[in-house]
Amino acid sequence: MKELMALDPAAVRCPYPYFAKMRADSPVTWIDELGCFAVVRYQDILEVVRDTERFSSRMPTGPKAAADTFAVLQQLVSDGGASIEALAAGMGMASVSVLLSADPPSHDEQRKLVSRAFTPRRVRDLEPRIREIAEDLVEGFVARGHCEFISEFAVGLPLRVIAESLGVPPEDMAMFKRWSDDLTAVIGNHQMSADQLRRMLSAFVEFFAYFTERIVERRAAPSEDLISAIVYSAAEGERPLSDPEMLAMFAQFLVAGNETTTKLLGSLLLLLLEQPELLAALRADSSKIPQLVEETLRLESPVQGLFRVANVDTEVGGVSVRAGSSLWVIYASGNRDAEEFTCPDVADLERANSRSHLAFGNGVHYCLGAALARAEARIGLEVILERLDDLALDGEADLLYERSYVLHGLRQLPITFRRR
Ligand code: HEM
Repeated sequence: MKELMALDPAAVRCPYPYFAKMRADSPVTWIDELGCFAVVRYQDILEVVRDTERFSSRMPTGPKAAADTFAVLQQLVSDGGASIEALAAGMGMASVSVLLSADPPSHDEQRKLVSRAFTPRRVRDLEPRIREIAEDLVEGFVARGHCEFISEFAVGLPLRVIAESLGVPPEDMAMFKRWSDDLTAVIGNHQMSADQLRRMLSAFVEFFAYFTERIVERRAAPSEDLISAIVYSAAEGERPLSDPEMLAMFAQFLVAGNETTTKLLGSLLLLLLEQPELLAALRADSSKIPQLVEETLRLESPVQGLFRVANVDTEVGGVSVRAGSSLWVIYASGNRDAEEFTCPDVADLERANSRSHLAFGNGVHYCLGAALARAEARIGLEVILERLDDLALDGEADLLYERSYVLHGLRQLPITFRRR
């Protein structure tokens, strides 16, 4: 585990043996580097995330990330290295609790309002557009016979889908991508630099200014996009959502929805390249694609785990946990728990309980964008398999993974192929 905490490249790429050892030896164990307990067994994780009275979501990325951010922030203040506006935006943001970082009852009220904007029907209606975007991205490199799959496909697909849903026009796309990068860089990276934090604060300021204008525009003239749906359903609740709450939600869609789906697409393709029998099975029967998506979510969970804070003195997996202690619920470990999944390390296209994985969490915080992410992964892979043949890794270079213990996936995946 020390290796993973030090973000050693091999451990970041494959942390599963550490999790397996913890499940066997000490399923609820203190991690000094993070200042929290790690919870690694499937049933213990469920117990924690389903009990919102005993466990709060108020610090979902963990105490270490919060403390480190604060320390770098103090440094920036004393150096005069960030504008007052940027600091205020960062502080303001930290004090707004929405969805991911909110607890019932306010979480449930917010969730009821935004769920109306994330209905299965809305996702179904988006499917043709998801396919068009995927085909357009493939068109950009198909003639070349090689590409860097992450930057040329896996980043663009979810980014364009969420940007269009939020009503961001193509000319603002590069800016939108930069905000996504700068806001995500701090997750699970406890070696964050002052420069990264400064960029994150600036991204907040720009993001909020941009979307404040969009909210005003939609109030005056609603359209079909997600912003309009949220602006209007937000006004209908018993306690309508405030503008800062809506802005924090849009930021959450950006951070929670983009990188995660990018990572899923990268892991899906790598799994197919490393296990040609899976590729052959999908070529023979493309209706198995959704099952491979579930198995990839289980085996290479893009969000390896998130954090809860104990509200009371309590016990988890037989270990005493004092009120105020943080717990890292490692979904990626629960997903390979042999008590829950037979042959847990194998991608099995016939697994009966493949959708029981915890990659989208569980309980009231279950991923709001799960249906959208599943649709993007399925359609993205369908288009890749329809358009490209003889898929192979390009060269023997080491594959580069995200330097994070929370987000998991490739930063680059060079591939070769033949046009179909
Ligand atoms: C493969 C892609 C994705 C993965 C692996 C993923 C993973 C997760 C996980 C594990 C949670 C639970 C958080 C917790 O336990 O505290 C979550 C919540 C959430 N996700 Fe996703 N997510 C993905 C895609 C998306 C997309 C596309 C969106 C939206 C556009 C999204 C928006 C959210 C939001 C808003 C929450 C908070 C829900 C709440 O607290 O009620 N996610 N996601």
